[in-house]
Amino acid sequence: MQELLIDRDNYRNTKIVESESRPLADGEVRVAIDKYGLTANNVSYAVSGDMIGYWKYYPVSSDDGVNWGKVPVWGMADIVESKCDGVEAGERIYGFLPMASEVIMRPGKLKAASFVDVAEHRQPLPELYNGYNRTAGEPALYKTLENERCLLFPLFVTGYVLADFLEDNNYWGAEQVLIGSVSSKTGFGMAAFVNSETDFGGRIIGLTSPGNKAFVESLGDCHQVVTYGNEAEIDPSKKSVYVDMSGNGELRNRLHNHLGENMVRSIGVGATHWEERRGGGDMPGAKPEFFFAPAQIGKRNKDWGPGVLFQKAYAAGAQLAARTSDNLDVEFLNGMEAARDIWIETLDNKVSPKRGIMVSLKG
Ligand SMILES: NC(=O)c1ccc[n+]([C@@H]2O[C@H](COP(=O)([O-])OP(=O)(O)OC[C@H]3O[C@@H](n4cnc5c(N)ncnc54)[C@H](OP(=O)(O)O)[C@@H]3O)[C@@H](O)[C@H]2O)c1
Repeated sequence: MQELLIDRDNYRNTKIVESESRPLADGEVRVAIDKYGLTANNVSYAVSGDMIGYWKYYPVSSDDGVNWGKVPVWGMADIVESKCDGVEAGERIYGFLPMASEVIMRPGKLKAASFVDVAEHRQPLPELYNGYNRTAGEPALYKTLENERCLLFPLFVTGYVLADFLEDNNYWGAEQVLIGSVSSKTGFGMAAFVNSETDFGGRIIGLTSPGNKAFVESLGDCHQVVTYGNEAEIDPSKKSVYVDMSGNGELRNRLHNHLGENMVRSIGVGATHWEERRGGGDMPGAKPEFFFAPAQIGKRNKDWGPGVLFQKAYAAGAQLAARTSDNLDVEFLNGMEAARDIWIETLDNKVSPKRGIMVSLKG
């Protein structure tokens, strides 16, 4: 088997490791990873790996003095060997996987369309990531959406939950929603869902880099697209909410200073600008807060019934994926060397938002 290891102290330092697969113990299954999506979100898993525990899903024992880790991705995989009653070799699954050709899991809490990896080391970790979908038990439509599930849905669902969170709070009275790093799938997904799924009557203003402005404009979901450094173009007289996928401290500071007390809410979601997180400091306006999607999902599960928010998000996500299919070129890269190279390109911001990167590991 092959695995891609990332140096937890220097993400550009990587190692491809080849080793013998170990035999399965009773209760375990061997999972061959077929394909996965790679985006800035996976870089954020590394960046927040210690805080949230992403490094602990697939722990690595290092013997060469480097603090190696495995970055998780969303992908499709096949069970190729099973010593677990109720799970058969040949089953296809979707979920949170390592960048590796193979992984061993211990399925539990079996249902027709899902199981949970109940391996002991995963139990203290956020449980959302321990669940796997068994595709044979799912609606037939999902089989036609494999690439979208890997590449878009984890991000579109977050964009949907954000749009819902804003509507649920009546936008805190804001007339403008500002979205940082709007060319990201989470960012443009949110812009699209504020338009299509909420009753927001104000303006959506996307912030992006000059090279990505045309891409954002081609999607048509922002009333105004402002490039970094030109924040003065934003009307400061209107109450505004800032939803930030960039994590860029200086950008946040400039926006708060420009909007002053009209910055009525400042919500941090991601850190696509992962090397520019410093520079916040004292700022006027609302105190920045971190968005915790599970809190809003939990609230809606109570309001609407368990799973209803996800169903709505998936339905809206499928529509958005279809609408943006001409704007996004899904690209398949094959093999572990390609997996390593695209990881580095993603770190270095060399992947245009037009490219939807899928990595395929099945020989
Ligand atoms: N909190 C949550 O629950 C949650 C859930 C999902 C996603 N997120 C976060 O949302 C963010 C967006 O994720 P995504 O997967 O949607 O991103 P993506 O589609 O891969 O985003 C690509 C965009 O991010 C910016 N970017 C990417 N790499 C960069 C780099 N090295 N330096 C500077 N800018 C870079 C560029 O946008 P611009 O030019 O427009 O800046 C680029 O067009 C991530 O930080 C992710 O972790 C958070």
